[in-house]
This record gives sequence, C-alpha cells and structure tokens, in this order.
Amino acid sequence: MPITKNISFSYREYEGSEELETEDQELIIAAKESAKMAYAPYSMFMVGAALRLESGRIVHGSNVENAAFPSGICAERTAIAGAVSNFPHDKPVAIAIAAMNGDGFTAEPVSPCGNCRQVIAEEEAKTGKQIRIILTGKTRIRVIESIGHLLPLQFSGKSLRADHP
Ligand code: THU
Repeated sequence: MPITKNISFSYREYEGSEELETEDQELIIAAKESAKMAYAPYSMFMVGAALRLESGRIVHGSNVENAAFPSGICAERTAIAGAVSNFPHDKPVAIAIAAMNGDGFTAEPVSPCGNCRQVIAEEEAKTGKQIRIILTGKTRIRVIESIGHLLPLQFSGKSLRADHP
C-alpha cells in the first residue's frame, strides 16, 4: 500500500517593509538598487538581489541578459556567484529579491526561478546555514526562513554518492 505523505511550510507575509527588522529593510533597499542596475533589454524585466553575508556585508546581483538568450543569468545567481568568488568564507544568511516591469516595482513579490532555488540550496547545504528569502512586492513582502521550503525533496550532492540511502 502506498503511504501518502504531505509537505507544508509556513512563511510570514508583511504589508510593508517598515514591519521588518532594520537589517532586512536595508536588504530590501539594496535589492531594489540592484534591480535598477539590471541589463534586461530583451525581457524588460529587471530583477535585483541583495545577499547578506554573516559579516553583515551585502553583495548585489542583477539579471544580465544576452542576445543568445540562454546565456543570460538571473539576479539571484549573479549575487551568489559574486559572494562565492569574492568572499568565499563569509556565509550568506539572507537574500532579498525585487523586480521591476514597465510600471516600476512589481505589485506582487517575485519568487526565484527553479535554477536559482537549486543554486541557493547548494549554498545552504555547503555552509550549513539557512538562507532567509525575502521576496518584495509593492503591496506585500514574503519572508521564507530557508530555501529548503521552496525546494522540497531537492536533488543534492548527497545523491551522487554510491552509499546514498
Ligand atoms: N529573472 C531573474 O533574474 N530572477 C528570477 O527569479 C526570475 C527571472 C530574470 C531572468 C530574465 O532575465 C528575466 O528575469 C525574465 O525572465
């Protein structure tokens, strides 16, 4: 007989950034600044990410598109790659994401794509530290305590080992 299992998670939703802690408010401002730096002439969808490291340092990332479309990269992965390359021993603890379309910042929070979830998850697995995900829209903000919640039953390096259960 199959067993039906259930996965659920809780996250917090805020109606304005003033309800968040100062550090997270600062990260949201940084993500919005990053969105303005995006190079997105093809989609016109400008995404910004701001990654807070354990030391308090903030690393920015924007989406960088390319005429060869698959060569483009998302804001979240730009931020992670920047942090890993420049500050390899400073663990990421939070990432804020903001996006702009033709009307300015999106009303609804934008969630990271599947590729970015996988990359953020690798970072969590590597450092052993949860990365708080802060998704910002004009009308609400969502805070998710770990990328694991957005990528349940995830594929990870553990699966590559022969002795994997
Ligand atoms: N994009 C991001 O940068 N992050 C996301 O989480 C979703 C999508 C970018 C990729 C592409 O440059 C544009 O947004 C439209 O998909």
